[in-house]
Amino acid sequence: MATMFWRYGPKRFGMAIKSKCNTVLDFGSGLGHLVRILNYKYNLSAVGIEMQTQLTEEARKLDLEFEYTAKKHLTDECMTNLVRPTHCNVTLTSLDQLHQISLPKNAKRYGLIGLHPCGDLGPLLIKHFVKSNKVKFICVVGCCYMKLSCNNEPCGYPMSTYVRELDNSLTYVSREIACHAIETYCQKLCRGDYKDLKVHAYRAALEKILVEMDPEFKHMPIRNVKHTNDMSFESYCEAALRHSPLQSLQTKNLEEELKQWKRVVVLYTLRLMIAPLVETVILLDRLLYILEHGIPCAIYPVFDPKISPRNHIIVGIKS
Ligand SMILES: C[S@@+](CC[C@H](N)C(=O)[O-])C[C@H]1O[C@@H](n2cnc3c(N)ncnc32)[C@H](O)[C@@H]1O
Repeated sequence: MATMFWRYGPKRFGMAIKSKCNTVLDFGSGLGHLVRILNYKYNLSAVGIEMQTQLTEEARKLDLEFEYTAKKHLTDECMTNLVRPTHCNVTLTSLDQLHQISLPKNAKRYGLIGLHPCGDLGPLLIKHFVKSNKVKFICVVGCCYMKLSCNNEPCGYPMSTYVRELDNSLTYVSREIACHAIETYCQKLCRGDYKDLKVHAYRAALEKILVEMDPEFKHMPIRNVKHTNDMSFESYCEAALRHSPLQSLQTKNLEEELKQWKRVVVLYTLRLMIAPLVETVILLDRLLYILEHGIPCAIYPVFDPKISPRNHIIVGIKS
């Protein structure tokens, strides 16, 4: 994905040059692939911020592995001059916290990037861009809109005064469907691979069982399962709940409901039709928020949506 980000968005990284920033902060950097490319390949001093300790440690290991291989091909001088990434293990929740992050010494001005920062992390990135004089540009591709806090602090939606004044709201269900992959689903529908679409009926049945067990399990994150035509519901549940503390589920008595999986396909298809609209509303709200602060910005499709369905980048640059 990080490679694709570069391939589809070279002009966007021209923004670091345009805004004379040699430092970039990546919010929600995961395994640090993008940070690694920006440092080692493009000589930017990129700092990754990631809340999961395991991913941060893995990112540091991957840097060492990269350098181990690079050493076989580069001169000692090149190795000494490599610009090395920094990976910080921090959970970002407020703007104040951002002042405490140690940046490279020469970072008087810097840019912000976020490749699929989940939920409120995207809005936090945008607020930091708007409010800090040191931040000169932003490139952010959102995701996981269902995790946004809505109409309550820190308020990931709505952000703009314009949308706030419309007094509207987006439900969890609508924000969740906005994160689905419409392009690949359409392909399956067009090919007539309906049986592959049974997975949504399985997911709905599993949700029903979980909520009956404990209402607190509503919307509980479960593993994505690659569904095959002949997969049984029991095998699906086992795969979906692997690594979760829930083991033995009562999956009986659902045969009649599961036979109606085609109705779920119809319902899901209808719901998916409005998904791009919901995503557009969320992205335009973010864009308006930046524009309301007098900063030019734009949205572009940056990836192939069949590979990465959340493919719109918001870019903004301060003059
Ligand atoms: C969808 S992943 C994207 C990872 C990476 N940018 C990539 O493209 O491979 C989002 C990442 O953001 C991290 N994250 C989410 N909320 C965060 C927060 N508040 N502070 C720091 N990291 C966060 C998650 O742990 C996760 O690794």
